[in-house]
Amino acid sequence: MKITSQFLREKFLQFFSERGHAVIPSASLIPENDPSVLFTTAGMHPLIPYLMGQKHPKGNRLCDVQKCVRTGDIEEVGDDSHLTFFEMLGNWSLGDYFNHQSIAWSYEFLTSKQYLGLDPDRISVTVFAGDEDAPRDDDSAAVWQQCGIPKERIFYLPKKNNWWIAGTTGPCGPDTEIFWDTGKPACGENCDPSCDCGKYLEIWNNVFMQYNKQADGSYLPLAQKNVDTGMGLERTVCVLNGYKSVYDIDLFAAALEKIQQLSGKKYDDNVKSMRIIADHVRTATFLLGDPVGVVPSNVDQGYVLRRLIRRAVRMANSLGMAKGSIAEIAKVYVQVYKDAYPELTQNADKIVSELNKEEEKFSKTLVAGEKEFFKVISHIPGKTVPGGTAFKLYDTFGFPVEMTVELAAENGYTVDVEGFRQKFAEHQARSHAGSEQRFKGGMAEGGGIETVYLHTATHLLQAALRRVLGDEVKQKGSNITPERLRFDFSFGRPMTKEEIEKTEALVNQAIEQNLPITCEEMPVEDARKTGAIGLFGDRYGEVVKVYSMGDFSKEICGGPHAASTGELGKFVITKEQSSSAGVRRIKAELHRE
Ligand code: ALA
Repeated sequence: MKITSQFLREKFLQFFSERGHAVIPSASLIPENDPSVLFTTAGMHPLIPYLMGQKHPKGNRLCDVQKCVRTGDIEEVGDDSHLTFFEMLGNWSLGDYFNHQSIAWSYEFLTSKQYLGLDPDRISVTVFAGDEDAPRDDDSAAVWQQCGIPKERIFYLPKKNNWWIAGTTGPCGPDTEIFWDTGKPACGENCDPSCDCGKYLEIWNNVFMQYNKQADGSYLPLAQKNVDTGMGLERTVCVLNGYKSVYDIDLFAAALEKIQQLSGKKYDDNVKSMRIIADHVRTATFLLGDPVGVVPSNVDQGYVLRRLIRRAVRMANSLGMAKGSIAEIAKVYVQVYKDAYPELTQNADKIVSELNKEEEKFSKTLVAGEKEFFKVISHIPGKTVPGGTAFKLYDTFGFPVEMTVELAAENGYTVDVEGFRQKFAEHQARSHAGSEQRFKGGMAEGGGIETVYLHTATHLLQAALRRVLGDEVKQKGSNITPERLRFDFSFGRPMTKEEIEKTEALVNQAIEQNLPITCEEMPVEDARKTGAIGLFGDRYGEVVKVYSMGDFSKEICGGPHAASTGELGKFVITKEQSSSAGVRRIKAELHRE
């Protein structure tokens, strides 16, 4: 049986409303009264006051389908699984039922013939393994067993897998996650649902929110015990239909068809760029069509929207699509979502005119900017596009810096992003404080101080990696959101578990030593002589900033950084994976105590 998006939305809401849940409408994509994040990133986000104890006007059992935007992994869009917009199905208990009822209902919804009718033998679950903050969740495991999930398919995992919190403080708790077994053989003896070999795919997360994490890192009991569940619609439709990619689901079919029509090219020959267009135009359509609504600009949500549209325009242009194509694709989405999200129809004129306006603005400079880019790279000696060029492309030609980085990568170059940042800061200083423009580049999505700490942690990480793996480790890329850092570096093989642990321990040691962080300015040649690492690029003669963290790390960088390493909290590596040939990628977080 094919499961369509509409079927899943309807069945989910029907199931929970039959069990006493009020169906509430999706909140806006732009969070109200919460300046700490740019977008609604999970179904629970608009409900935080109610999870904290405030009475909800619709009662203490709720369910909904919430629009979400997450752009932290925007560079991975175009692969099989990443999207910048998605819908999250959720049910909530606000101090009413708890884990027993929640698990029993999830099991019933997934396996009952009246609802999804899934084969119970293909369901595996994870529960919290317990640590110094909260006990092992044997209770939830026992409920799963009563439902009929055998012990062998119940996995205990630590906080980094089975604990959910939005950001760094607030309501949180252990969760139990539900996985669909794709039928692939296990990749090894230790293969479990935390493994990304593709055997297990997550479809649902039930969070048992009973703690309130404080800024000092302690966990206080919440006034009430809540349940917060989240099921990603696109992902679940994909997994349950056995599709390889989220882009294979019904919601994308018409848009991908339109893109092929408008470009006269085949999807199979242009998978990545067509997916990026399909994803970015969809997100832009929802942002423009949102009741609160955003328009393209140079700050905050408007900058993210601008970046999405301009990237889509550049891709469309390179596929030979005529001007106005982006808006044509948006019209397809308005149709596809006309029943589920009537606000898109209500705002269709605005969506179309804003997209056309932004495309018009950008297409005036896109071709000239690309020309400038190719002129510069034909003259520079190395493979690094200078920060000044990236800044000119931004300032004169309207290229978001991420686009320059992408264009460079397509042509085998990197960009001196730190140099760009410096130029940007200088420009901002010149064009007086209070300027409207704010650079969000590699540090996307709000979260001032968190991103500063993660940036500092990135320096410690690089220094630790060079100690553990050797000096051949060189930074290949870095991306920071308020939740995590991502660091790409040259290294030819996967790291061993011991190497990962050693790296993590070295960073934590540097944090515990509370090393002072100092900054000196000097000509780039002198910086090199001091042994500072970093992108020297083509900045000969330029004065650069060198940040030192005790004797542990010395790096050229534009800053800003923490005052001393002790401010950072606990450093946790959450992932080590391949990024591309010869390049590894680490994702890490700071758990602030
Ligand atoms: N809040 C949980 C999540 O987003 C359900 O996964």
